[in-house]
Amino acid sequence: MSRKVIIAGNWKMNKTAAEGKALVDALKPLVADVCPDVADIVVCPTFTTLAAVIDAVKGSNIKVGAQNVHWAESGAFTGEISAAMLKELGVEYVILGHSERRQYFGETDETVNKRLKAALAAGLKPIVCVGELLEERETGKTEKVLFTQLEGGLAGLSKEDMAKVVIAYEPVWAIGTGKTATPEIAEETHNYIRCTLNDMFGKEIGEGVRIQYGGSMKAENAKELVAQPNIDGGLIGGAALKADSFSALIHNA
Ligand code: G3P
Repeated sequence: MSRKVIIAGNWKMNKTAAEGKALVDALKPLVADVCPDVADIVVCPTFTTLAAVIDAVKGSNIKVGAQNVHWAESGAFTGEISAAMLKELGVEYVILGHSERRQYFGETDETVNKRLKAALAAGLKPIVCVGELLEERETGKTEKVLFTQLEGGLAGLSKEDMAKVVIAYEPVWAIGTGKTATPEIAEETHNYIRCTLNDMFGKEIGEGVRIQYGGSMKAENAKELVAQPNIDGGLIGGAALKADSFSALIHNA
């Protein structure tokens, strides 16, 4: 099955509104030749930079995502942002369950699942992150960890909803470390994720889900990674923070 490539830049806690606008202004002409039928290009700024970036991408082939969303519709959740608030701004995608949220902010498979359901109900397109720690890989627990994250994070989703979800496989040991999983290791793991999705939702749905790789992806390794049968794009940190490096990565992928 052919799946459209999706390259998303996760800006993490970088870029003020003015810096985000400047990055998008520089990126637009560099990626204007990328046909939207071939690849989705997404940038995911912080909440305070979203509005400026949404304005800046108008008329271009660049889409915008947020980095998290709360599960409640509204109420006493100081510091949180609802799916309706993101929708109202014009946000299209939302990253959920990033390992930094799991590591520093108490994110669990259960809270990922709640956020996922709220995002889908509001019409946002979720990017659900999964991935193992170095110690888990070294002790042969990778598949078990991924299975638990997928089973918990995607629990109770209908096939119709699952078809709208993107999965990002981000081995934690490869994030921001310069250590990329080899294309073989990444493909083997993506294939495991694909088989798990097929088991959970049926082949018709599982084969259509896009699975991004994330973890030190850059222009130099993007081509080989995305050439693997089950790697459908990338979720990019460091290399997405500059227009030229992100554009080079997109073109190579
Ligand atoms: O979400 C993207 C990410 O965690 C990968 O970061 O800097 O290794 O590309 P980086």
